[in-house]
Amino acid sequence: MKHSILLPYRAPQNVVILANQRFQATTFDRELSVDEIIALAKEKKTEGIVVVPKQKITKDVIDKLPDSVKVIATCSVGFDHLEIPAAKARGILLTNTPDVLTECTADIAMLLLLNACRRGREYMQIMESGWRKAFSQSDMLGLKVSGKTLGIYGMGRIGQAVADRARGFGMKIIYCNRRRLPAELEKGATYFSDFNEMLPHCQILSLNAPGTAETKHIINDETLALLPNNSVFINVARGSLVDESALIRALKSGKLFAAGLDVFENEPAYNLELKELHNVFLTPHMGSATQETRDAMGYRALENIEQALKGQRPQDSLW
Ligand code: DGY
Repeated sequence: MKHSILLPYRAPQNVVILANQRFQATTFDRELSVDEIIALAKEKKTEGIVVVPKQKITKDVIDKLPDSVKVIATCSVGFDHLEIPAAKARGILLTNTPDVLTECTADIAMLLLLNACRRGREYMQIMESGWRKAFSQSDMLGLKVSGKTLGIYGMGRIGQAVADRARGFGMKIIYCNRRRLPAELEKGATYFSDFNEMLPHCQILSLNAPGTAETKHIINDETLALLPNNSVFINVARGSLVDESALIRALKSGKLFAAGLDVFENEPAYNLELKELHNVFLTPHMGSATQETRDAMGYRALENIEQALKGQRPQDSLW
């Protein structure tokens, strides 16, 4: 008898195939609301649910789920949309998908970094409008990436992968993290226990920490003022880390040379003022969005569900 699971969003085809092989899976070609998920879980006596970050699994949702539900697996490394204490109180296991998206998320951080420093968006706009006027030696200049000091806030798996890539560009790495890394992971990077002390040294700053109460609006008027003039800001973590109004002020005043953003305070209805600024390079929360990685995330979520329903502690258990 196969276990009953729900995939209440449009999963990649390979993930749907695996889900149907291993489980009694109910799959969809659109993202369901949490009310629809609750109703279906009751109707299908669902034991496992795979969710995506837009599906907010709050205490209210968890309390309404039937007793048949034993595990909820989010297809993301971030889990700020899951209320862990409420799930724990009901004995519902929660899992995420770390590791498998590290490389692609670090790649998109570099995509943003290079485009922000080298004015990728403006160059593209010039080409799209038919580029007929030659530039002088002093027009449309970007910032040299090689040799710059990159500050990384949050030196977990993704932060370390960004550092590895940046070393390939001859960048100097400094970082701020709750704990200092052992030498073999630090690889010569300079540790700051205090974020504010690191900021004046960051020619480029990359956020790679989770969205938590502690990290909310860590980027604000005060912290932006501590960055060197003409610095560059990159965010592939969560929009909640940034006071976007303060960021916009810093981009308009020229304090920041540019920003590269994959995440926003409000998604998908992001602040449209950002797109009016010439010095931002924007992507729509696509850090993990490659064919290979989205398959791997789906497979990992299914593995977690399988482990949980076998009575094991899943490899990516969040409590
Ligand atoms: C993650 O995995 O947390 C990505 O940001 C997708 O939401």
